Amino acid sequence: MVSRVIPVDAFDLVIFGGTGDLARRKILPGLFRRYCAGQMPSNSRIVGAARSKLDGDGYRAFVTEAIHEFGGGRSCEDGTLESFLKQLDYVSIDARGEAGWDELADKIKDSKLVRAYYFSVGPSLFGDLAERLHLHGLADEDSRIVVEKPFGRDLETAKALNASLAEHFDENQIYRIDHYLGKETVQNLMAVRFGNMLFEPLWNAQYVDHIQITVAETVGVGGRGEYYDKSGAMRDMVQNHLMQLLCLIAMEPPAKFDPSAVRDEKLKVIRALDPVEPHQIVRGQYVTHDDSPSYRKAVNDPRSTTESFVALKVGISNWRWAGIPFYLRTGKMLAKRASEITVVFKQRNHSIFEEDELEHRNILSIRLQPDEGITLGVTIKEPGPGGMRLIDVPLDMSFAEALGEDGGDPPDAYERLIMDVIRGNQTLFMRGDEVEAAWAWTDPIIDGWTQRGEVPKPYDAGSDGPGDAEQMLARDGRSWRPISS
Ligand code: BG6
Repeated sequence: MVSRVIPVDAFDLVIFGGTGDLARRKILPGLFRRYCAGQMPSNSRIVGAARSKLDGDGYRAFVTEAIHEFGGGRSCEDGTLESFLKQLDYVSIDARGEAGWDELADKIKDSKLVRAYYFSVGPSLFGDLAERLHLHGLADEDSRIVVEKPFGRDLETAKALNASLAEHFDENQIYRIDHYLGKETVQNLMAVRFGNMLFEPLWNAQYVDHIQITVAETVGVGGRGEYYDKSGAMRDMVQNHLMQLLCLIAMEPPAKFDPSAVRDEKLKVIRALDPVEPHQIVRGQYVTHDDSPSYRKAVNDPRSTTESFVALKVGISNWRWAGIPFYLRTGKMLAKRASEITVVFKQRNHSIFEEDELEHRNILSIRLQPDEGITLGVTIKEPGPGGMRLIDVPLDMSFAEALGEDGGDPPDAYERLIMDVIRGNQTLFMRGDEVEAAWAWTDPIIDGWTQRGEVPKPYDAGSDGPGDAEQMLARDGRSWRPISS
């Protein structure tokens, strides 16, 4: 199957933090792949802006290295890199001072192309950048700004950030990235739910027993210890990525696939979340038994009480979901890299087969990464004579097999999201009120840990997390899907 590529309008994209890690790993290689795919018009320009003293050639050398290291993609032909590099430029700039701003203005001010500013910098600079763009006349009502997570570390800081951006930009100009929303399989959640007749009638408290959302990683905190230890899994993953997955699974069908309709429905889910009681959460911190550093070693704090794993039982008080638990879990250094959403349906209410005494449940499992695909567990007759004994077997679909090469190698989340910024489509970006509502739900959970002086449970690197997470479900007569299987 060949994917359709619709070119976007030509643009000027300024990347503040243009020499940073995100630019190097994701943004610049991603833009190059879109260029190779024919989606980025050749009169577009990308201007890196950062403190480093580089000239245009120096930046092009930096970008070349980044592309070699982090991938050009299948469709890039020889010679494409040279023509892509011609579209790149660089300004050495001071976000809080005057240096570099006139030079940036000279480069882009008279351009009539779509203009986007990517704030690939820490949130403490968002307000300064917004203000300077305004002061130098570099932003009009069509300009867009892209901001990265973490968007604040609690409700108060998120509100302050929203307010500082709102001084110079309207909400419809602000693109808050949650890269999970750019993942092809995450968008598929909406396609599966709202593109099929089959699932939606059953997608409610009457037919669903519970839902599990797991985002398991095998990596540890690596070189990000300083940031991570101040955040923990709750702020780093649950408040944003898992919350977005929960919203897409639980929301009402929006009337249209457009930014307001989709984001209104997501917001209603977040606002309907029940507060989480202490016995509905398990926090963990990984320990190692070999040469690899344990969590505390990685963050260089032998007494750190930050969680690298969290599991929660979440309730949604609305007509569709009242009484149905959503179990969320995420962690680092787990047995396998596996992100999966599992919808466990209720037991049938009557069996007509006397020989069959076992429990049978339909289980729909959506694998987000890796090995993206969908499995539906169905009950069938065990082959052979001897009566109607039933067994459960999987109807298994892998996107890579079903869709061929393109299905197995979709554009990276950042590629998709940056193109959406240029198109002016905010559907897959978080709105300010959504982010604030997510913090309003998260804050009391984190405050509770602090007040109670809670210490996370140790779990072995390479395991499924602390045993307490299993027990939390066992108390409800349920069990997690094994991560390691
Ligand atoms: C980031 C978190 O937002 O998402 C990281 O800060 C995490 O800690 C990463 O590792 C996971 O993203 P992905 O795309 O690899 O699942």
